[in-house]
Amino acid sequence: MVASVVTLPDRIRHRFPIFERRLYVNSCSQGALSDAVRTAYEQYLADWDEQGAPWEYWVERGEAARATFARLVGAAPDEVAVTTSLSAGVSALASGLRFARRSKVVLTDWEFPTVGQIWHAQESRGARVVHVPEAGDGTIPVEHFERAIDDDTLLVSITHVCYRNGARVDVDAVTRLAHERGALVLLDAYQTIGSLPIDVRELDVDFLAAGVLKYLLGSAGLAFFYARRELVERVWPTATGWFADRDIFAMDHRDYSPAATASRFQSGTPPIPAIYAGIAGMELMEEIGIAATREHVLGVATPREPERRGALLCVASTDAPALVEALDREDIVTSSRAGNLRISPHAYNSVADVDQLLAALARHRELLVRHT
Ligand SMILES: Cc1ncc(COP(=O)(O)O)c(C=O)c1O
Repeated sequence: MVASVVTLPDRIRHRFPIFERRLYVNSCSQGALSDAVRTAYEQYLADWDEQGAPWEYWVERGEAARATFARLVGAAPDEVAVTTSLSAGVSALASGLRFARRSKVVLTDWEFPTVGQIWHAQESRGARVVHVPEAGDGTIPVEHFERAIDDDTLLVSITHVCYRNGARVDVDAVTRLAHERGALVLLDAYQTIGSLPIDVRELDVDFLAAGVLKYLLGSAGLAFFYARRELVERVWPTATGWFADRDIFAMDHRDYSPAATASRFQSGTPPIPAIYAGIAGMELMEEIGIAATREHVLGVATPREPERRGALLCVASTDAPALVEALDREDIVTSSRAGNLRISPHAYNSVADVDQLLAALARHRELLVRHT
């Protein structure tokens, strides 16, 4: 008798009720709602209702979120800021950099708009922004970074996986090069966190920003910003707020004394409901296993070059929004960007999901770009 193999989705899919009704392959946009995250939101309402304003507990929940994220990326909790979006953390960093001795910020043409916009906003403060273009084969070769990074480069700002086309940047090579030339590195890990193991020490990046609403299964409103400990006090954020203060209970409106920890990249009142949900999502991903998820996703998606791919696959379409709509009518949830249909399998997606999706794509082949 052949023992039946219990796959990762077999074990966990029942925790995500949407699969009773729809085929969900849109985790690059938003993770599917789990029973754990629903319960966390209900708990937030119950605590608010029963206890009124349990701020001590809520501040402690913020610390628990910080510690959970720190554990996920191999950082210490005092190197992690709790923010309300990736943009908020990156903006706090940008506001605290001086574009003097070095003035150049190097970024790729694969960045999420918010990242490009934040760096271009710094041009009024003296920053010079340089874009590293993609090559004809759809990659960004290291030589392109070699041409852009020089001894005037303050920061290299890279995305781990491009939100538009799913391609992965060679973080090791770029970071090595940046450091050799005296520049710092910021990694936008929003499209990878939760879908593959991340360790800030191994990656050797100086800053990392990510949020919980995609592969970490949380909701909008919670993100994190990591800063390498030695760098924290070298940045003096001017985009700030009272939760960035050395002592948030000092309530001193006549002073600005930012925390000696990465909390200095924080701002105002923390997003308590999203923190409840985010802890539940991150803990669920820890339980599911991020390394196991990476293996699973590679198995389901069979990318040609795994080291150059994340969990996001893109299919060129003649009309991507129309294709998303057509699939939606068949209860298949995807999304589109820049002429591509985005399909992003996660731990809960099975081989049967992929078969169902491929059959649907075959039915809508008039909306696919043919490569002759
Ligand atoms: C790569 C990447 N960076 C940043 C963001 C957005 O970050 P936030 O809205 O939290 O500032 C997204 C969201 O889609 C993203 O995919």
